[in-house]
Amino acid sequence: MAFSQFGDKFTQHSGISRLMEDMGEGLRTPGTIMLGGGNPAQIPAINDYFSQLLLQMHQDGKLNEALCNYDGPRGKALLLEALATLLREELGWPVTPQNIALTNGSQSAFFYLFNLFAGRRADGSKKRVLFPLAPEYLGYADAGLEEDLFISAKPNIELLPEGQFKYHVDFDHLPLNDETGLICVSRPTNPTGNVITDDELLQLDALAQQHGVPLLIDNAYGVPFPGIIFSEARPLWNPNTILCMSLSKLGLPGARCGIIVADESTIGAIGNMNGIISLAPGSIGPAIATEIIVRGDLLRLSQEVIKPFYQAKVSETIAIIRRYISEDRCLIHKPEGAIFLWLWFRDLPISTEALYQRLKARGVLMVPGHFFFPGLEQAWPHTHQCMRMNYVPDSDKIERAVQILAEELENAWNA
Ligand SMILES: Cc1ncc(COP(=O)(O)O)c(C=O)c1O
Repeated sequence: MAFSQFGDKFTQHSGISRLMEDMGEGLRTPGTIMLGGGNPAQIPAINDYFSQLLLQMHQDGKLNEALCNYDGPRGKALLLEALATLLREELGWPVTPQNIALTNGSQSAFFYLFNLFAGRRADGSKKRVLFPLAPEYLGYADAGLEEDLFISAKPNIELLPEGQFKYHVDFDHLPLNDETGLICVSRPTNPTGNVITDDELLQLDALAQQHGVPLLIDNAYGVPFPGIIFSEARPLWNPNTILCMSLSKLGLPGARCGIIVADESTIGAIGNMNGIISLAPGSIGPAIATEIIVRGDLLRLSQEVIKPFYQAKVSETIAIIRRYISEDRCLIHKPEGAIFLWLWFRDLPISTEALYQRLKARGVLMVPGHFFFPGLEQAWPHTHQCMRMNYVPDSDKIERAVQILAEELENAWNA
């Protein structure tokens, strides 16, 4: 079949589609240990909560109501109202329902926003999206309608005790200029679990305002919900920031509900795009979210159930790694949030792509690091020395996978 240029662009083999294919194949292959994808944990208390909530909503006719009606193009009005109130009361942000739009998952929000602010402009200029700190989320990499839409910057690396390290924004070499149309950062970051500091965020905010471009903060894991953040970090919003949130990591990835908080003109544009592309975002996720907020449970569950669950899990996983793999062989990015550990095999004699293939052959799926540097123009050996693992599966599976990883690292070093 012959496709258009648009078709060619979106049917080429992208990092994310290979990852999804591997995940699908892994799911069909019994015994595969899946540490590659971004599925959130099945937390028993959260699953029970959703089961009871859905039953009650069904009995009250609220599920039917959501299923049988279109919402407006910015999404369910009740949720926009409830979210605006929550953000005003909890965080003191001057937000009204006109500052919020919903999308079918936050992934589609990035597609809208990147192409809204970057690409060819009416005056002939071309703008790009700047990721001020790579590694950055793999899902951004192919979301541009035009080629070369992204540019990113190498981080500074701070070595920490106990075999850990942390990336920082290298403000001295940030490629921020007239070509920049949008600055985008995930906080906490997928893949590293990094949380850029309040200071770094404020500096980015100031730079964005100086250059007259928005600062997009991807808050898929952050506060106030789902709250998978273990360091002290103050959330930020002002009319020059675009905050993207999601119900996915709360435990509802199948609901495909993303939330954008931005100035009214950006929200108006998103409403238009929703109308053209999908008439309206789906209603089920928003109906569930409204109910959780109205019951006063959204922040309580985030703080009392979700955050402690992931915090305990990440500590347990690091302890397992250290039982099998020394600091000489593997450094770990300081886990400050999100659901992944980012492992740095400094000076490893093989690339992490080769390591990925060896692990895959033994039934362990992790993701090699080089996918996570969208827009990085200069070659950097570090990109081939890192690997992302999801730490959510049961600890016996994690332990088996780490044993295999330790063996493959030794094989590589001893070859
Ligand atoms: C940093 C980050 N942002 C956004 C998303 C997209 O999430 P969703 O489209 O499910 O809202 C993910 C998914 O893993 C992510 O890790």
